[in-house]
Amino acid sequence: MRDTGRDAEGSQADVYMTQTNHVVFFDTTLRDGEQSPGCSMTTQEKLTMAHALEELGVDILEAGFAMASEGDFAAISTITQAIRKPRIASLARAKSEDIEMAARALQFADRARIHVFLASSDLHLEYKLKIGRQEALDLTGEAVRLARSLCDDVEFSPEDSTRSDRDFLVDMVRIAVEAGATTINMPDTVGYSTPEEYGRMFAEVRERIPAIDEKGVILSSHCHDDLGLAVANSLAAIQNGARQVECTINGIGERAGNAALEEIAAALYVRRDHYGVDTSVQLDKLFPTSQVLGQIITFRPSPNKAVVGDNAFAHESGIHQHGMLANPLCYEIMTPALVGVAKTHLVLGKHSGRAALRHRLEQLGFTVDRDELQHVYYRFVALADRKKNIYDQDLIGLLPDEIRERRHMPVAELD
Ligand code: KIV
Ligand code: ZN
Repeated sequence: MRDTGRDAEGSQADVYMTQTNHVVFFDTTLRDGEQSPGCSMTTQEKLTMAHALEELGVDILEAGFAMASEGDFAAISTITQAIRKPRIASLARAKSEDIEMAARALQFADRARIHVFLASSDLHLEYKLKIGRQEALDLTGEAVRLARSLCDDVEFSPEDSTRSDRDFLVDMVRIAVEAGATTINMPDTVGYSTPEEYGRMFAEVRERIPAIDEKGVILSSHCHDDLGLAVANSLAAIQNGARQVECTINGIGERAGNAALEEIAAALYVRRDHYGVDTSVQLDKLFPTSQVLGQIITFRPSPNKAVVGDNAFAHESGIHQHGMLANPLCYEIMTPALVGVAKTHLVLGKHSGRAALRHRLEQLGFTVDRDELQHVYYRFVALADRKKNIYDQDLIGLLPDEIRERRHMPVAELD
C-alpha cells in the first residue's frame, strides 16, 4: 500500500471524501457478486472485469475476500498490480488473521481499503457467531484499530444492520468510528428493509453520532434485492446522507442479488433534478460493462432488465413505435447512447403499426406508396400472428416483385 491517498495536499484520491455532493461507487461485483451461484470467476476473468470497471469509473473496487481462498487472495493481489484508478478493497471478518491477510493481499495497491465486517443483529450474534453483544462491541474496536494500523482507509460494516436493535447498532457504529473507521457501511444483508425505513436508519445514525460528520466519515449503503427494493433502498440512503453506494454490475449477488450499479447510476443522472448528486460513473460504459460480465459468468441480464436488458430500448407496440418515430422523448427517458447502447430497436411484431413497418422498409431500401404499404401490412400481420420474431429477411419475403425490384441504397444492415 504505497500511497493511501490521504496525503496533506489532498490528492485526487481524496476528492470523494470532501465533496459532499459526490456519491462514491463501490463496486462489489468481484466479491459479493462473485460469491453467488453461476458467477464464480477465475483470476484472469476477474482481471478482465476489473479493467472494465476501471473504464466505467467506479471509485472503489472490492476485488475479493482475501482469507476466503488462495484464488481470492491471488485475484486481489493481481488486480492491485494492474489497476490504478479505483481504490482496491478486500473484505475481512473482524479477526486478526483475516485483517492481516487482507493487508498482505493489498500490499501492492496504490490505494487500498480493508473492509471489516461483523454482525450486529442478535439473530446473527446468537446463532451464527455465538457471542454476546459486549463481545461484539469489543471485537469491533479491536478489529478496526488493527485494520487502521495496517491501512489508513478502513470500512466497517455491521452485518444485518437493518434487523439489529437500533441502540446497539448505534453503539457499534460509534465504537467503529472512534477506532478509526473512515467509512461506515450499513448493509441490508437480507433485503428486508423498505426505502422509508432504510433512509431513516441513515438519518438517525448520523444524527446520534456527531463524530461521523466531525471526522468526515462516509456513510455507505449496501442492499440486497430479496424484495426487489435494493435500488430504491440505496437511493433512499443517498437521500438521507449516504455518500457511498455498494452495488454490482447487472445486480448479481447473493440470492436475488445486490443493488444494480447501472440502475443507481442511471437514476442519479436522469433524475439529478431530484437527487442533486454527482458520480464518476461513465454512463456510456454501462452497457459495454454489462456485456463483459454477461460473457464471463453463466447468465446474462433478463431482456426486460432496466438500463442494460435487451429490451430496455426496444419498442414493439404500434402506438409506441409511432410516438418514437415522431419524437423519441415520447417513450424514452434517456437515449440508448447515454448508456452505451447502439440504438433504439423498433421490434416488428404483431403489435407494430404501419408507421414502423414503413420506417423499416425504407431503412432496408424499399419505398412503398400508401396502397402498397397497406398490402404488405396485411401480409405482415398475418405472418406476425404465427411467428414471434420477424426478421428483415421475412419482411423482404413479403414484398411483391415490383417493390423488390425498385430497391435503392439501404441505410440499415439486415438483422
Ligand atoms: O450483505 C452484507 O451484509 C455483506 C457484508 C459483508 C458487507 O455483503
Ligand atoms: Zn452483501
